[in-house]
Amino acid sequence: MYYLDFFAQMHARLQPQAYLEVGVASGKSLRLASCRSVGVDPGYAITVPLDGDVALFRTTSDEYFSSPDPLAATGGVPFDLAFIDGLHLFEFALRDFINTERSCSRHGLIVFDDVLPRTVDEAARQRVTKAWTGDVFPILEVLAEYRPGLSVLPVDTQPTGLLLVTGLDPTDTTLADHYDDIVARFRRPDPQHVPADLMDRLTVLQPEAVLEAEFWEILRTQRGGPDRMHAELAESLRTTLGRDFARLA
Ligand SMILES: C[S@@+](CC[C@H](N)C(=O)[O-])C[C@H]1O[C@@H](n2cnc3c(N)ncnc32)[C@H](O)[C@@H]1O
Repeated sequence: MYYLDFFAQMHARLQPQAYLEVGVASGKSLRLASCRSVGVDPGYAITVPLDGDVALFRTTSDEYFSSPDPLAATGGVPFDLAFIDGLHLFEFALRDFINTERSCSRHGLIVFDDVLPRTVDEAARQRVTKAWTGDVFPILEVLAEYRPGLSVLPVDTQPTGLLLVTGLDPTDTTLADHYDDIVARFRRPDPQHVPADLMDRLTVLQPEAVLEAEFWEILRTQRGGPDRMHAELAESLRTTLGRDFARLA
């Protein structure tokens, strides 16, 4: 399944109230949002109609998140869906996740693009291919080690895979606290060592199965309700995902 087809169905299932996109380019993914949306990209050049309620920021994600109130453009409503598709270098993707999670609701979903490179060249930090994932993929190892409470789903979309992350905790500072150590350990010089199971897509989920899963319902229906304890929500997501995808349980 092409990633934008997955995205269209994801929006329909989640019906987010506020959407953030880091890395807008021509607007092909941003146009799928129909809620209040924020797009951040220093070099966007929109070529498609954007019908929704969109605020565009021609700046880097680091600049955007360093503003006094990154949620000013949504009137304070936290993001419940965010797409990280800016600069495809490990440390940028890591910072984008740290900053994005802070601005998300506990019922939010963060999606990374480009976590499943198809070749070592495609994963290079120094871009040498047209389609380029860069070295975003180590984020999988980092989240597993430093944030085991998150639910993390690699999805076999074309061309370069998506990673869905739920069970968010906007108050968690683990990644920020260990940022320097994480970058020292996980940012590696080219050529990249892409794990074989990622390159061969052996441990990833089929997009059709993910779209049929029950967790969308939990994320959508619990939004706006009583602010449940994070641990309780994260546990109920893990249980549901475990039922849906037995091998992840
Ligand atoms: C792959 S494109 C985004 C594609 C778009 N999300 C889509 O699916 O149609 C990546 C974009 O990230 C932008 N970008 C590069 N560095 C960035 C940064 N530091 N912060 C935010 N965006 C950045 C680039 O200008 C480029 O337009």
